[in-house]
Amino acid sequence: MQIHSSIDPTKYYLGLSAGFHDAGATLIDNFGNILFAGHAERYSGIKNDANLNQDLINDALSYGEPNNVAWYENHWLKRTRQLYSGEWRKAIDFSTTPSKLVQPFFRQRGLLPKGKMPVHSYGHHLCHAAAGFQTSPFDTAKIIVVDAIGEWNTISVWHAWHDPKEFQSNPETRGKGWARYKKVYSRSYPHSIGLYYSAVTQYVGLKPMEDEYILMGMAAYGKAYQTAYEENLKLLSNDTHVTFKDNLHAGIDAEQFSGTGLTEYDIAAGAQKVVEQLLRNIFVKNVTRQDNVVFMGGVALNCVANAMLSGHCRDLWIMPNPGDCGSSLGAAALQYGRKLKWQGPYLGHDMGGEYPVDAIIGGLMTDKIVGVATGRAEFGPRALGTRSLLADPRGEDIKDRVNEIKRRQKFRPFAPMILEEHSEEVFAMHGEINPYMQSTYKCKQPDLYPAIVHADGTSRVQTVGKQDHPGVRELLEKWYFLTGCPLLLNTSLNIKGEPMVNNRRDADRFEQRYGVTVCS
Ligand SMILES: [Fe+2]
Repeated sequence: MQIHSSIDPTKYYLGLSAGFHDAGATLIDNFGNILFAGHAERYSGIKNDANLNQDLINDALSYGEPNNVAWYENHWLKRTRQLYSGEWRKAIDFSTTPSKLVQPFFRQRGLLPKGKMPVHSYGHHLCHAAAGFQTSPFDTAKIIVVDAIGEWNTISVWHAWHDPKEFQSNPETRGKGWARYKKVYSRSYPHSIGLYYSAVTQYVGLKPMEDEYILMGMAAYGKAYQTAYEENLKLLSNDTHVTFKDNLHAGIDAEQFSGTGLTEYDIAAGAQKVVEQLLRNIFVKNVTRQDNVVFMGGVALNCVANAMLSGHCRDLWIMPNPGDCGSSLGAAALQYGRKLKWQGPYLGHDMGGEYPVDAIIGGLMTDKIVGVATGRAEFGPRALGTRSLLADPRGEDIKDRVNEIKRRQKFRPFAPMILEEHSEEVFAMHGEINPYMQSTYKCKQPDLYPAIVHADGTSRVQTVGKQDHPGVRELLEKWYFLTGCPLLLNTSLNIKGEPMVNNRRDADRFEQRYGVTVCS
């Protein structure tokens, strides 16, 4: 293969994100391969860990050593917003500059070119946009970023394309060129869909910036649907321009819903409907059904809202880790500058080993529930088969049995992974595939598979095609051959309150705690 002279095979791009929640690291080589992408929490054992750690950095650098760092936001700009919002201590704490945060990790490794590791910062929403666009299958796209809060922006819309003038002589990159971004719209703090959803999360007694997915699950149980929607809408003065009456960063007034007779579940349902309405407005205003759309930011984890967005555009891409941890990939991608070779989300810690298909099938046949921890960990919040607790989804008792292990709210259902070619038989997929569990679909056979169906009759589906993880694919094929059932219940392998299992030691702890075999 002829290599273009400007491509330096020894060059690596390291992107880091930290300081808010869910810190992450990504390493890319000079051919656009994502060599590593992982979460700090999986190494420290602290769920949603805001801080980087040496073990994460060492794991990333075992694939190659960069000579600078790409940082996921402009911290100076962020400090101006912190001053505005009254977060004085954070704003003037200069011990948290990206440069000060990262130097110790490289000093320990004796890796300090020019005496210290240079750090280049990129805008928070631009990093979200790049993490989406440069991993997407699109050459041109409209990008919508919706999160809680970065520097100032809370919503941004971008046009993105690859400049075809670059790299014409290299068959590897011909027609791809540099990724280009033009911001065409933005909304700024304090008017934020993400902050609103987090404020409601806190209002109903859950942990903001962590339990938003539980609020989404509660929404299906809301009864006073229309009243709850209208009461939530009262927080806004303009829903077309996403304008809130108050700054919800400090939470929602304790009296906001008192006297309305609404339960927490009703309030959750109303909030979910408002978020869907606001997102629909953004999509209708900014994209057409001919557009390829990249949707990123923490709000893109709302799989119930995502289900109604795909109908507003030609094709929708959400990188499996669309939040701030995924922006470590965005920062590295911006420094690399070109399209990445997206091979899937299995980019984290490598436990090695063959995918243990026969051991898993054996466990399912005897106990109906079995763990798996093998190969590379998923980059993103969803377990997609390499750090998963799997179960036979048939029968009435399986949900309670898995819940006993997971010790989580009984109302929450589990997700299924299904052979792609059988997905339409069980779910109303309307021709879509969803390999990263990013949308919900109506289940056509809820009586057969009650454990994986939510109160609203939907499931968060992971389709597994021939192009997806070969081990997971082989497992489902064999399971289907032996049982006639094309799907398995798939939930994350973690001890309650802890991040997903990362290595064999974590898997052993899980086995000891819950008495469930974890296959490696
Ligand atoms: Fe963000």
